Amino acid sequence: MNVLVLGSGGREHALSWKIAQDPSCGNLYIAPGNPGTAQVGSNLALNPEDFDAVAAKVAELSIDLIVVGPEAPLVAGITDYFANHSTLSSVGVIGPGKEGAELEGSKDYAKAFMARHDIPTAAYKTFTKETLAEAKAYLRSIDAPYVLKADGLAAGKGVLILDNLEEAEKEIEDMLANAKFGEASQRVVIEAFLDGIELSVFALTDGKNYVLLPNAKDYKRIGEGDTGLNTGGMGAVSPVPFADDAFMAKIEDKVVRPTVEGLKKDGIPYTGFIFFGLIKVGDEPFVIEYNVRMGDPETEVVMPRIEGNFLETLAAAAKGELAGKSVNFKSDFATTVMMVSGGYPGSYQKGKIITGAEGIAEATVFHAGTKMDGAELMTSGGRVIACTGMGGSIHEALNNSYKAVDQINFEGSYVRRDIGKDLM
Ligand code: AMP
Ligand code: GLY
Repeated sequence: MNVLVLGSGGREHALSWKIAQDPSCGNLYIAPGNPGTAQVGSNLALNPEDFDAVAAKVAELSIDLIVVGPEAPLVAGITDYFANHSTLSSVGVIGPGKEGAELEGSKDYAKAFMARHDIPTAAYKTFTKETLAEAKAYLRSIDAPYVLKADGLAAGKGVLILDNLEEAEKEIEDMLANAKFGEASQRVVIEAFLDGIELSVFALTDGKNYVLLPNAKDYKRIGEGDTGLNTGGMGAVSPVPFADDAFMAKIEDKVVRPTVEGLKKDGIPYTGFIFFGLIKVGDEPFVIEYNVRMGDPETEVVMPRIEGNFLETLAAAAKGELAGKSVNFKSDFATTVMMVSGGYPGSYQKGKIITGAEGIAEATVFHAGTKMDGAELMTSGGRVIACTGMGGSIHEALNNSYKAVDQINFEGSYVRRDIGKDLM
């Protein structure tokens, strides 16, 4: 089977690293990929959002399965594009069509979906420019903290949590009346604040059945002790120790199954990953958000814990044949620590030479923001390299992650030294 993975980050390196190990994997391509994906397959210089260019390569290289890494091509409709293609409609695509992708593309759509299917989530109301006065009145009627969410995709910046009422009123005005997040804040969801601990749960579905993948916890803030600005993710741990069997069973019953059944009831075809961003409040799971793709850096701990041939499972999903399938997990812990450029998530420099990233025995090195310049490996993004260690305990896995981190060097590099500490 010939496979094309779309994307260029650590998530796509981890996906293609896993897929490449599968005996049924023929040629593996990654577009555009990075120097890490080039170690496990062939990179193609393609923009995943240029569907005609992707289709031309899919035809030329006899691709059987496309695995879409990031959300943007999904929200832009790549799955429908191939489903309706005159000659390529039989190519499998892992990732939902445009409608299913709205679960991530629109907070209001996702909240209405959850309300319709009785899936636990924070109480909410949606407002527009026309109802700005009502939005402010609503804020005055509820207690702090105030959670404001731009409806559309805002590069992870569209959620504001504010303690002060005046500030919340000013921000909602900025979002609705002054287009603070452009089109993404034409609508704003105000929702109740939930106080608890977050975790990420992943399913792969064919629209009728699903398999659960290993769960994970990610570390979003730049600073140790979960302080400072939000990032794309500074590290992750799998499995999540507080998500025991009983709690996972509750998540399946109250969240995962109702979501897949809801998609079916609503007539929304969906083949692909569902990423449940959850918060545990007391002993109950609530959905904070849906994503229609895998998480990054969660994928860097999820893939190494999957036993056996994951490509076979992906291919079964694409054919609508997930019934009766399951995925086995290794009992070992996986941890990943993200090395980032100095200054990230603010402005940072690129083009720093990276040394020591080859031949590391203790951990798997997943490339995120790297590029080759001649024979030299260089930084090319904020999040540069994720070091995934495995071990019988979080402590042991982290030791392996940090041993790798300590061998890799580039000017200005920064890591959080407290990944997983809250779980030990
Ligand atoms: P989102 O983009 O929806 O994942 O939100 C970003 C982050 O904001 C989440 O990871 C949570 O840490 C936080 N958050 C979102 N919604 C809520 C909520 N209702 N209560 C508490 N925290 C929230
Ligand atoms: N790590 C969170 C995300 O991928 O959205």
